[in-house]
This record gives sequence, structure tokens and C-alpha cells, in this order.
Amino acid sequence: MPAIRRSGGAPPVAAAGTVVSSDKKNRVVLEKGHSQVDWMRLTRTAPDLAGLRGERPGLLTVEDVRRHSSADDCWTVLEGRVYNITPYLSFHPGGVDMLLQGAGRDSTALFLKYHPWVNMHFMLAKCMVGRLEDGQPGATEGGGASRDEDDEDEDSGDDAVR
Ligand code: HEM
Repeated sequence: MPAIRRSGGAPPVAAAGTVVSSDKKNRVVLEKGHSQVDWMRLTRTAPDLAGLRGERPGLLTVEDVRRHSSADDCWTVLEGRVYNITPYLSFHPGGVDMLLQGAGRDSTALFLKYHPWVNMHFMLAKCMVGRLEDGQPGATEGGGASRDEDDEDEDSGDDAVR
């Protein structure tokens, strides 16, 4: 099935999750109600996005993170903080598969490679399950090429961009 179907003069229509590559970005079509604004609203209303069940964020090891590496139970490390990104997967403008590359591991470098301007700590604050112990491999991992272009996104909440 083509990623984009055209019907007469109507605007392009694409199924949720398909990659839209009409511009130079690999952005996907998100399901209705899954814009970045919808995500930020959810972070204000959902009671336990991190899945902590009343516990406080703690110190975690690489092994702890590695145990959560599937689409229905997905943790990742970003600049030393451990996030349960399971609820964010279907909101990610780059698609689920891209995000799953960081499942159960440190995704700081990948994150910075694609969009260093995105304020992930703000967007994922309610998803934080802990911090990686000092000295753990990956605890300070970062780097990756940054990109020059910085297009505006009508779906992004202002605070989602640093
Ligand atoms: C494994 C880690 C990740 C990879 C490989 C990845 C990849 C991508 C890709 C390919 C895009 C589409 C291209 C683009 O807009 O530049 C994208 C967009 C985006 N991603 Fe990610 N991403 C990752 C993690 C995250 C995380 C953790 C967040 C936020 C919590 C996030 C938020 C966004 C946002 C807001 C956009 C739209 C950016 C814009 O339009 O400027 N991503 N991502």
C-alpha cells in the first residue's frame, strides 16, 4: 500500500504510522488525538504515566533498564535519566520503530542526532522512573550529529522545544 494515497484534488491521506517522506523528514502520520499537544495534555491529566504505582523514582542499573525493552514495556535512558516511554510511543512524530531503537538502552545519542532542539526532559517528566547509577555504562553517553534545519511544527507545544 502506498504511504500516501491521492484521490482527485483532495489533500494526501496516509494511514496512521506510515512514514510521510514528502519533505526531507521521516515523520509519520499520527493517530487522531496523538499530536504533541495531546501528549502534553495527557501528561497533565494521567495519574501514573511512569507506572511507579506510588513508588518514588530511584537509582537504576543498566540491567534494570534492559528488562524493559518491548513495545508494551519500554524504558530508555536520556542523559542519565530513565524514562518509561511506553505511553509516548504512539505520540512520537518519528514513529514507534524509531523510538524502539532506544528500548531498554541509552538513546541519548540517537535522540540528539535527530532532534537536539526537542525538550525531552520536559515532555517526559511524568514518565521518569529513576536515574542511572553513576559510573554505569551509558550514564553519560551523548553526542551524535546535530542537524541544522529547525522547521516549525504546528503540532508541537511551544514548551516541547528547547
Ligand atoms: C531512539 C530515540 C529516537 C529516535 C531515533 C527518534 C527519531 C525521530 C525521527 C526520525 C523524527 C522525524 C524527523 C524529524 O522530525 O526530524 C522524530 C521526530 C520527533 N521526535 Fe523523535 N526520536 C527519538 C526519541 C524521541 C524522544 C525521546 C522524544 C520526546 C520525548 C522525541 C520527540 C520527537 C518530536 C517532538 C519530533 C518532532 C520534531 C520536530 O518536528 O521538530 N523523539 N524523531
